[in-house]
Amino acid sequence: MRTGRFEGHVAFITGAARGQGRNHAVRLAAEGASIIAVDICGQIASVPYEMASEDDLRETVNLVEALGGKIYATVADVRDRAVLEGALNEGMARFGVPSIVLANAGISPQRATEPDPQQVFLDTIATNLVGVWNTISIVAPMMISRGDGGAIVITSSAQGLIGRGGDGSGAASAYTASKHGVVGLMRSFSAWLAPHSIRVNTVHPTGVHTAMVEHAEMMEWVAADPERGTTMSNPMPVGMVDVSDITEAVLYLVGESGRYVTGVTLPVDAGFTSK
Ligand SMILES: NC(=O)c1ccc[n+]([C@@H]2O[C@H](COP(=O)([O-])OP(=O)(O)OC[C@H]3O[C@@H](n4cnc5c(N)ncnc54)[C@H](O)[C@@H]3O)[C@@H](O)[C@H]2O)c1
Repeated sequence: MRTGRFEGHVAFITGAARGQGRNHAVRLAAEGASIIAVDICGQIASVPYEMASEDDLRETVNLVEALGGKIYATVADVRDRAVLEGALNEGMARFGVPSIVLANAGISPQRATEPDPQQVFLDTIATNLVGVWNTISIVAPMMISRGDGGAIVITSSAQGLIGRGGDGSGAASAYTASKHGVVGLMRSFSAWLAPHSIRVNTVHPTGVHTAMVEHAEMMEWVAADPERGTTMSNPMPVGMVDVSDITEAVLYLVGESGRYVTGVTLPVDAGFTSK
């Protein structure tokens, strides 16, 4: 049922084909926002789990449209600035300039044995850090010109606040570095954009039930070190949180509820970063 809390808003969401990005899209659409959704819908060779497909992105469209929502969805890689800008322009031609931006696309290529750690490192930084910079630096000038404020949320990670579980591998160190890196982007962008009433925050999930972490290679990586299960566990009695737990935090940040909240690193982590 549509409730209208975000009626008249346009939300630009990266990595929207499945997982957290899809859930954010569906919830925002259910509350009235028009959605511009992008996803790579393809594989990055160094990522050991299956990434999203065009069918996944179509399913996001189906779910939004089933609610009577509006969505423009297309394939775009956040690493490719020109393609990303083209996708955003197509979306804006339909719905106008976004007031909400969710820089959510990311990869986490943890595996027990890495064939090429440097390639994993470079690919992770390119998506999780450069991709976020591309996303926000493309859309923010248009939000400024629109002149009516807005809200941007970057999906970092608990690993954006701590380095627990580091093992020197390309994946673990790049993931942690990239997720800390987006905190720097958030602080820089929030300082720049606050006078324009555009707020920028990061959300820091602990493990979330999605295909990014629920796969055989991740299980092998956890099993490879007998201490790791304990190291990576949450103090609160929950193994992983649900996508809806992250969506609730995102909706708080982008809604009227968060209207004077900017420059904040918000953990949704069952105590992981404070243990
Ligand atoms: N699942 C977790 O445990 C967890 C924990 C903390 C943070 N996160 C972060 O949450 C965000 C969402 O991840 P998720 O859990 O929904 O996993 P997911 O793999 O289901 O979703 C990520 C989406 O991003 C897309 N994507 C990846 N690289 C892309 C690129 N270069 N260009 C465009 N799209 C791309 C994928 O195709 C996928 O649809 C990510 O930034 C991730 O790092 C996840």
